This record gives sequence, C-alpha cells and structure tokens, in this order.
Amino acid sequence: DKDLLGLENISKSEIELILETAKSMKDILKRPIKKVPTLRGKLIVNLFYEPSTRTSSSFGLAAKSLSADTMNLSVKSSSVTKGESLVDTAKTLKALGADAVVIRHGIPGSAKLLAETIDMPVLNAGDGAHEHPTQALLDMYTIKEKRGKIEGQKVAIVGDIKHSRVARSNIWGLTKLGAEVRLIGPSTLIPVGIEQMGVKVYNNLEEGIEGVDVINLLRIQRERQDKGYFPTIREYTKRYGLRKEHLKLAKNDVTVMHPGPINRGIEISSDLAYGEEAVIEEQVTNGVAIRMSLLYLLLGGSRNE
Ligand code: CP
Repeated sequence: DKDLLGLENISKSEIELILETAKSMKDILKRPIKKVPTLRGKLIVNLFYEPSTRTSSSFGLAAKSLSADTMNLSVKSSSVTKGESLVDTAKTLKALGADAVVIRHGIPGSAKLLAETIDMPVLNAGDGAHEHPTQALLDMYTIKEKRGKIEGQKVAIVGDIKHSRVARSNIWGLTKLGAEVRLIGPSTLIPVGIEQMGVKVYNNLEEGIEGVDVINLLRIQRERQDKGYFPTIREYTKRYGLRKEHLKLAKNDVTVMHPGPINRGIEISSDLAYGEEAVIEEQVTNGVAIRMSLLYLLLGGSRNE
C-alpha cells in the first residue's frame, strides 16, 4: 500500500516489518551523527488541522534524520481559512513538490479521503476518534522493547475508549500480534458491542488490571466530550485514576504507559507518571524511530535493503 491510514487494514507481517525496521532506525538515532542520506531530496509536508506536540515534532525529526526536507503548513494562516478544501490543499502541496503528506484532522476518514485523491503517500497522524496508527505502533514497539514480546501480553487500556483513536489503533494492532486486550472504563465511555473487536470489557479498574503486564492510560478528552458527560472528572479520577497502590494488583514488573499529553492527577497520579514503572518518555523517543521506519518504508526503502 502507498499509505498508512490505520492498523485495521494492515497485516500482522506488515506490522512486524514496521517494528523491525524501527529497531534499525533506533540504532541510527544512538549514533553520534543521527542522520542518514536515505530520503535526500524528498519533501514531506506536515498538515495538522488539530494541535500536536509529540506527533508533529517527531515526524519532523524522523524526516530530518533521513535527510528529507520538511514543511509544516500552518493551517491557521493558510488558505484553509478562506474555505480551501482538504483535497485542494493537498493537491496544491503536491504541485509545490511534496512527496508525502502527514495529516492530522478532526474528522474520521479524512486521511483516507486524501489518500484516494492524491498520488503520493499519506500518513495518518490521527483522524478524529477513528485511528492514530503511528501512536499504536510506537506503543507496540515500546511493549516489545520493555517486555520482550507482544504475543500473550495482557494489556489493559484504561479510560475514554469512546473518543480515543489511540485505543482503536492499539486494539487492532495488539490483537493482530496476539496480545490479550482489556478495556477499562465507565460504560458511558466504552462503545457498546466493542467486544466484537476481540477485547474484554471491565467497568471496574481493580478487576480489570488484575495480573496485567501493561497498563496504558488514555487522556480524558475534554475537548471531544458533550456537555453533561458522565462521570464528572472528579468521579472519574476517584474510580479510574491510576495510583501507586493499584499497581500491586497487576504483575510485579507492570509497565505503565500513556500516549500523552497527560492530565496529571486525573487519569494518572503525578508520582506514577514519572515513576519507575512508567515508560512515557521512552514512548516519545520510540515515536521518532517508528516514524522514520514508516517514512523509509513508504518513500524510499524496500524489504531487500
Ligand atoms: N500522543 C499524541 O498524539 O500527542 P500529540 O497530540 O502531542 O501529538
């Protein structure tokens, strides 16, 4: 495929190839000169219609480490504000010489629409509540790095599953690679029928994290929630906020993850966020290697190289 739109439609072996390639990319990032000439002359455009710190900057760093040129289109000061459509914006970027587009947009399916209409790789950096495949890939890479394997790992994803593109991509990816996925949260924030995706649902945090290898906490997405949503933030924190004392219920060497940005003191206590069990900073670091892997595989590399 020319694009990375989500993990629903890619195979187990494709995911494994991306993770393996990311390992080689991480080795490059450990060298004194963190740069290879692989994508010299290529132009990668970041088109972010929603805010981002981690994803946009790590795509930029990944492109630079592969010697590609990058351009960040500032959507707020572009002709998008005059009503130019997503497709017309991307066609303009292609005419300016872009070789790939990284897109984040609030509407599910926007990356797919773009991929169908322009003749260059499109990488989905998050489309509404649909998918955030590069986040799930870096999460899986981090699980493999910390725990040695993904198959058989018990992974609890806690929080606002309903509004979470991170959760959806993680579910697709982790189940394809043989992990046992548990979803934990209030019934108002877990889509009805999600068990069909091969996951177990728990409305009780303590029950859900019993014996798990990994706890991945999601951010409560206040910007996506309807007014009057239940539970309130206070109630949520009381029932689902992860605190140090919860960890004794999980495996002794449990790994605590969070895609960021964190609402400290809401879904995770401050001491836990940067405690010894947490790998939140490693996740960010691994994000650069994952995005290098994807740019390399979609723009320059081949299985034989
Ligand atoms: N995890 C994540 O997507 O973070 P940003 O919104 O900062 O990119």
